[in-house]
Amino acid sequence: MKVGFIGLGRMGSNIVLNLLEKKLEVVVWNRSKDRMDKVVSQGAEGAESIAELCGKLSQPRVVWIMVSAGKPVDDIISKLTPNLSKGDIVIEGGNTFYKDSIRRNEDLRKEGIFLLDVGTSGGLEGARHGACLTIGGEEEAFEIAEPIFDAVSKKGGYLHVGRSGSGHYVKITHNGIEYAMLQAYGEGFESLQRSEFKLDLAAIARVWDNGSVIRSWLLKLAGSAIEKDPGLEKITDHVGGGTTGKWAIDQAWESDSPFSLIALAYSLRIHTRMEESFAGKVVAATRNEFGGHEVKLKE
Ligand SMILES: NC(=O)c1ccc[n+]([C@@H]2O[C@H](COP(=O)([O-])OP(=O)(O)OC[C@H]3O[C@@H](n4cnc5c(N)ncnc54)[C@H](OP(=O)(O)O)[C@@H]3O)[C@@H](O)[C@H]2O)c1
Repeated sequence: MKVGFIGLGRMGSNIVLNLLEKKLEVVVWNRSKDRMDKVVSQGAEGAESIAELCGKLSQPRVVWIMVSAGKPVDDIISKLTPNLSKGDIVIEGGNTFYKDSIRRNEDLRKEGIFLLDVGTSGGLEGARHGACLTIGGEEEAFEIAEPIFDAVSKKGGYLHVGRSGSGHYVKITHNGIEYAMLQAYGEGFESLQRSEFKLDLAAIARVWDNGSVIRSWLLKLAGSAIEKDPGLEKITDHVGGGTTGKWAIDQAWESDSPFSLIALAYSLRIHTRMEESFAGKVVAATRNEFGGHEVKLKE
């Protein structure tokens, strides 16, 4: 099977290498040429343009897009559409808001083209050696593209979850769960770090990962980060990201799901980016007004 692939960033390049290893033929295009050259040197077939990429595929064409979410996806789809025909399939594997996927699928269906919205999990390691995919869209398109999903994922690591939008809905919820898990591990290790005992946190992460009920890949990664930099003294507590978590909260609250821990984890992430909070100052100043309670003056 020959597949088209657009977007050779950290995720895309690893997925392409994974597909090549599974003996699929892959035609690639990327906005910046250096990334494309790298993947071509490892066995992919390069295309000078999106039109050329489509010309190198036979019908029904299957083209996987793995670019930054939002406008880049719309831009790529608008360049792809004139070069695709009825029955062709676009796979969109980024972290996209599910309503955008539903809208794009509706637009593409007018041309007879399918869009499969694919939630891609497993990080760079998964992209290269076995990802976990949740796929939304029409059954007919899923069945045609299934050998690609089978090749790129871990054994048992892909699922057609439902109609258009559901693949990304599930993935965004997954990311919300990830936020809460990360926060829980962070707080647990902070308490161990501050305890009266002199604890080897990396060793504790390792032993917990061996049969405890809280074992997980995230725990393993937390332990290995602590092992590399005990006390994590080389970095600050600034936590980046947050878009998918915010979407997860929006979509959960739209259906009246409480989502309390995940929303709290998102809010705590925002706190890590503030040098000082205005809210804290308002609270301190107000307490001082009503009770003469202490405020700490700036030096
Ligand atoms: N990193 C992860 O662990 C992970 C896991 C699951 C899902 N995802 C999702 O997968 C998608 C790709 O992530 P990534 O980590 O691979 O990102 P990345 O390394 O930043 O790569 C972004 C890719 O998008 C392309 N791109 C960006 N804007 C473009 C535009 N306007 N027109 C054409 N191409 C454009 C870039 O092209 P250039 O090379 O020319 O810049 C590059 O190929 C995102 O939606 C991300 O949220 C990431």
